[in-house]
Amino acid sequence: MQIKSNFSLLAFNTFGLDVQASYFVEYNSVADLQTVLQSDIVKSNQMLHIGGGSNLLFMSDYKGVVLHSCIQTIKKVNETDAAVLLEVGAGVEWDNFVAYCVLHGWGGAENLSLIPGEVGASAVQNIGAYGVEVQDLIVEVKAVDVHSGELTVFQVDTCKYGYRDSIFKNELKGKYIITSVVFKLDKTPVYKLNYQHLEEEVLKCGMVNLQNIRQTIIAIRESKLPNPKVLGNAGSFFMNPVIPKMQFISLQNMYPNIPHYYVSEFDEKLPAAWLIDQCGWKGKQIGNAGVHNIQALVLVNNGGATGAEIASLAKQIQTSVKDKFGIELQAEVNFI
Ligand code: EPU
Repeated sequence: MQIKSNFSLLAFNTFGLDVQASYFVEYNSVADLQTVLQSDIVKSNQMLHIGGGSNLLFMSDYKGVVLHSCIQTIKKVNETDAAVLLEVGAGVEWDNFVAYCVLHGWGGAENLSLIPGEVGASAVQNIGAYGVEVQDLIVEVKAVDVHSGELTVFQVDTCKYGYRDSIFKNELKGKYIITSVVFKLDKTPVYKLNYQHLEEEVLKCGMVNLQNIRQTIIAIRESKLPNPKVLGNAGSFFMNPVIPKMQFISLQNMYPNIPHYYVSEFDEKLPAAWLIDQCGWKGKQIGNAGVHNIQALVLVNNGGATGAEIASLAKQIQTSVKDKFGIELQAEVNFI
């Protein structure tokens, strides 16, 4: 365990905000984490656990302890003719795990290629893309109780997974720290290519296989989403809103081309990107914060922006979407 004081979080938030944590602690194992949780520094300060910082917006310096996992093991815990079960440390970079699965010919994670962040956070956020959510692969989540230090195993059906949502963002927020996640991967992959024109795009690489799906998704993401190392951002800033069918029908009467996704007979999901784009925000800049010029759902730090500037831009976008469409966008990004 290492404790650092007045630590810059620049490398730990993809918006590229130069904020400081009073203390920053990294640990390498469950036992190490249990020791950290007993330390005076943790007991006498507020605490924030971060992953890759790809979903965080720091409004100011963090007056407390920031924890980060360096548990980076990948262990095969079971194997049958059909599947492998892998226990993956919370500190493993998500996309390295996807690459590892694809390399071994194990299917399930390939559609989630190039999503930034780490494995622990993937299970909090229920990351998703191209028709797959991480909950589809999760068997169990292992986490340490912040107060008792006890290691608990959560079966996937107790994690209350929903769209970018889980028990760890709600009832158990701040109460547990995820240390590893057990995933089930298929030895005979079942390809999921229904999202928009994904299959067509994959076929341009030749045959449908895990490598080509990964390549295609990486290419799509790179063409639409700015690289946070070049232009600070946190991926989709808002969630795609789910609205009642009646409200959707009246919007569709006004905007016949409105894109939408079926949720249930009662609800429809709308792309926030489209709503924001229709309000004329794409490519706009206010101060040092801006709306990406290719994907309107991504807010960017054009250099030197503060968290407050980005938050103020987000607020203005929410207001205009509310005024034009009567829909309240909710942030996917966490404000700290
Ligand atoms: N669109 C616009 N203007 C834009 C961008 C998109 O009108 O500037 C329209 C597109 O034409 C399309 C619709 O909006 O009809 C949806 O766009 P896209 O397919 O790019 O997906 P999205 O809804 O913006 C979601 C996830 C992404 C995920 C992609 C692919 C959310 C909030 N976002 O984006 O997740 O990668 O689908 O599955 O659910 C993330 O969570 O950080 C993230 C990037």
